[in-house]
Amino acid sequence: MRQFQILAAACALTLLSAQGISAQQATTATPYAPTVGQPGKDVVWVPTQAALVEQMLDMAEVTPQDYLVDLGSGDGRTVIAAAKRGLRAHGIEFNPDLVELSRRNAAAEGVGERATFAQGDIFQSDFSRATVVTMFLLQSLNERLRPILLDMEPGTRVVSNTFTMGNWEPDQQISGEPNCTSFCRAYKWIIPAKVEGRWRMAGGELRLTQSYQMLTGTLTLNGRATEISDARMQGRQISFSADGRRYVGEARGDRMTGQVDGAEAWTAQRES
Ligand SMILES: C[S@@+](CC[C@H](N)C(=O)[O-])C[C@H]1O[C@@H](n2cnc3c(N)ncnc32)[C@H](O)[C@@H]1O
Repeated sequence: MRQFQILAAACALTLLSAQGISAQQATTATPYAPTVGQPGKDVVWVPTQAALVEQMLDMAEVTPQDYLVDLGSGDGRTVIAAAKRGLRAHGIEFNPDLVELSRRNAAAEGVGERATFAQGDIFQSDFSRATVVTMFLLQSLNERLRPILLDMEPGTRVVSNTFTMGNWEPDQQISGEPNCTSFCRAYKWIIPAKVEGRWRMAGGELRLTQSYQMLTGTLTLNGRATEISDARMQGRQISFSADGRRYVGEARGDRMTGQVDGAEAWTAQRES
C-alpha cells in the first residue's frame, strides 16, 4: 500500500512536470506567486507542509553549529525554518523567480543574513560543506545524488520528504502528522565512514565488507575466526558483535578506536 502511495506521488510529480502546468509569470504589476505543480527543471514545485518541515529539522537533530542545504529549495521554507532555529542555511533552486521569492520571504521573517539562496542546478552545484542536506525531489533524482552524498563528511545527515534512496535503507523514518494527507513521510540517512577492508588488531584482524551503513565480515583473534553480526556504521561510529562480545568504536581515517563490552579498549589499523 505504502509503495503504491509513493509510486502515485512520484507519478503525480513527474506528470505535472511533463504536462507543464502553467507557471505564473512575474509582472511588474503582480507580485510573483508560484502555483503548486508548476514545472521545475527536473521536478515540479510542491511545497513541504510546514509541520513536516519542522519534523524533518527535528529528525536531522539540527543545532546552530550546522550548515543546512536544501536541494531544490522552492519558496525557501525549509531554509528559512532552519535559519529561525539559529543555523546558517542555504537553498539551491533552479527557478530564478522562486529564488527571489525566497530572499524576500527570508527578509520578511528577519533571517535574511543566515538564510541564503542561489539560482542553480543541484547537479552542477557544490554543497559539500553542508552538515545537513534536505530534499523533496524524486527517488530517481535522489539516486542520482546518492554517490555525491556518500562522498560527504561522515556524520552528515540527509533528510528527504517522501522519496527514498533506492536500495540504501534509511537510518530513520517518520510518518508525519496524523492529519497529513499527502507527502507526509520523511526519511533520514547518516553518511557512513568508509571502512570496508582489512584492519589489523592486537592478536588478529578484522575484515569488513560494507554496503552503505551496513557491515558484514569476520573478526579473527588468536587464530579463531568469527562472523560479526548486528554490525553497522552510524556516521563515524562503528558497532558489531563477535563471539558474544559487543564492540563499539569510532573510525577516523586509517584508525579505529573503541571499547569491548563498554570496558576493555580496542584499536584497529587499516591494512588495505
Ligand atoms: C517538490 S519542490 C520542493 C521545494 C522545497 N524543497 C520544499 O520542500 O518545499 C522541488 C523544487 O526543486 C526545484 N528543482 C527541480 N529541479 C531542479 C534542479 N535540477 N536544480 C535545482 N532546483 C530544481 C523545483 O523548481 C522545485 O522548486
